[in-house]
Amino acid sequence: MSVFSEKGFSVLGTVAKRGWLSEYAIAKERLTIARPEEVSAIEGIGLPIAALTAHKALVDVAGIKLDGSGPRMNILVTAASGSLGHYVVQLAKLGNAHVIGTCGAHNIKFMKSLGADEVLDYKTPQGTTLKSPSGKKYDAA
Ligand SMILES: NC(=O)c1ccc[n+]([C@@H]2O[C@H](COP(=O)([O-])OP(=O)(O)OC[C@H]3O[C@@H](n4cnc5c(N)ncnc54)[C@H](OP(=O)(O)O)[C@@H]3O)[C@@H](O)[C@H]2O)c1
Repeated sequence: MSVFSEKGFSVLGTVAKRGWLSEYAIAKERLTIARPEEVSAIEGIGLPIAALTAHKALVDVAGIKLDGSGPRMNILVTAASGSLGHYVVQLAKLGNAHVIGTCGAHNIKFMKSLGADEVLDYKTPQGTTLKSPSGKKYDAA
């Protein structure tokens, strides 16, 4: 039996066609996940579009296998600290990629905490070149 059959269960997901703002909406179970208690509804709203965009870019476009079974790829993530980029960094690490991210100086620690292997401050001369500090060639950006 599905966990979603419980009345009042909090979920996150996407509504296929219409009804995003309505009181009641029908969503496909496969496009819905249980909302963890520590994630508020407001925080959760940002997840589906940004995370699915990150997923599509990495899996469908770059060809990363999220179970880590593919070849190790070098991925450049510009604006890596943003709402889209921070999902890209985490999913790319899940897929065993070597991740080079760009962000502002105030987010370098945050980037490293997400697992980025190399971080470029986009305001520095080195950052504006978008070159990997270790000389890696990018497989995807
Ligand atoms: N969010 C989505 O669901 C989504 C979906 C599809 C496409 N997009 C597109 O993805 C892009 C980023 O969107 P977002 O929602 O992630 O934006 P965001 O949350 O506002 O993040 C903006 C990012 O840009 C960085 N940044 C600011 N100035 C920069 C500069 N001069 N050079 C390089 N990076 C700079 C910021 O770094 P610091 O904060 O570290 O300074 C931050 O990481 C946009 O083009 C957006 O249209 C977003």
